[in-house]
Amino acid sequence: MDKLVIEGGVKLKGDVTISGSKNSLLPILAATLLTDEPCIINNAPNLRDTNTMLKILRSLGKNTELDKATVSVLSTPKTNFVADYKFVSTMRASFCVLGPLVAKLKKAKVSLPGGCVIGARPVDLHLKGLKALGVNINIESGYVVAKAKRLHAEHIYLGGEYGSSVLATDNVMMAACLAKGKTIIESAACEPEVADLAELLIKMGAKIKGHGSPIIEIEGVKNLGGAEHTIIPDRIEAGTFMLASLITGGDIHLKNVFPYHLSALIDKLKETGVKVISTSKSIRLRRQIRLKPINITTLPFPGFPTDMQAQMMSFMCITPGISVITEKIYPDRFMHVAELNRMGAHIQREGPHAIVEGVKRLSGAPVMASDLRASAGLVLAGLVATGKTSISRIYHLERGYEDLDKKLQALGARIWEEKE
Ligand code: EPZ
Repeated sequence: MDKLVIEGGVKLKGDVTISGSKNSLLPILAATLLTDEPCIINNAPNLRDTNTMLKILRSLGKNTELDKATVSVLSTPKTNFVADYKFVSTMRASFCVLGPLVAKLKKAKVSLPGGCVIGARPVDLHLKGLKALGVNINIESGYVVAKAKRLHAEHIYLGGEYGSSVLATDNVMMAACLAKGKTIIESAACEPEVADLAELLIKMGAKIKGHGSPIIEIEGVKNLGGAEHTIIPDRIEAGTFMLASLITGGDIHLKNVFPYHLSALIDKLKETGVKVISTSKSIRLRRQIRLKPINITTLPFPGFPTDMQAQMMSFMCITPGISVITEKIYPDRFMHVAELNRMGAHIQREGPHAIVEGVKRLSGAPVMASDLRASAGLVLAGLVATGKTSISRIYHLERGYEDLDKKLQALGARIWEEKE
């Protein structure tokens, strides 16, 4: 197992090109199960999670190829309807093969994903939506066994205790594409990744309106065809590089980024005293004055993304004054707090809140990555800390950041991998 070593203190400068969005790509790959025709997906990031999803597609009878940033998915005569525990337990996004499989094959057996380090992550909304479309669901030996004749349309309210659900919206929207009649999903997730999936489905022949808003209308069709689609830029990777620029007092020019997907982050950065210079596809930041503390509350899009919470916490650690984070999507997503405190941060967790008192400096230390975004937060802390930080269990980072060490090296960072 490899670890990442960082010698902090370098102001990062230069251009970085943001990769395609992981959280768009994974459900989009699942959507290729809705058709027998070929699909071509461009701007696909080459990540551990991408490869896991391609393995799942192959296990379900597809031929897949990832060449540079293009994925081709082709059908074979051998179809399978079982998504195995060994895949779904390592990557929750694989649960969104359920909707496409049952809509296309009228049967599916998909492992339940189980627990997760960022907190309880139930799938009740996925199942509620699919049941409403006429899918018969049983839980057998840790698997969801789904059967249907033809799916029928329904008016579905998909809001849960913590608001809308991204992957449940994806799962139900994909299934509804082949249901008879007009389905309405109310309290649908508005994340850009859901809208991107809808754009692909429309290219495949689906009739969808309202994607990107809380009410999505889907008029079912009999069949879907193949399509070619280009994935949107990864807003979370972009946000992570924006904070890498600020935290090191550097000057990174982000390319291939959609600033309007990052409004909540940009707004908070302006509040803390940062000037944001953006065009339609690029962002550059300037620290203008002494930074001011800020408060953030994570919320579904267009609110502040939970996937930027850990990285923002690292930034708050070196921002003078008291900043407060309220985590409303995953109230237990705070595994990084103890690790940041080992680096000299002053963070106190109280239930779903973290109170961060800015310190003059962080100091490098051996720390442990617990999940993808927590790891990104630790990388940011390591970039600004004095001395050496080593981050163990970096396979978490490889799940969601394409060539993170190489991109940071190109900006001047002293960062490298070492064998544990
Ligand atoms: C997606 O997960 C993302 N994953 C996550 O990114 C992200 O953190 C999350 O959305 C929130 O933005 C992918 O897109 C692959 P949810 P998802 O269902 O869809 C509750 C990363 O680091 N809920 O929107 O699984 C749930 O517990 C990852 O890239 C139910 O109660 O998240 C949470 O509190 C991690 N019942 C809230 O809804 C359900 O059936 C939102 O979760 C489903 C979810």
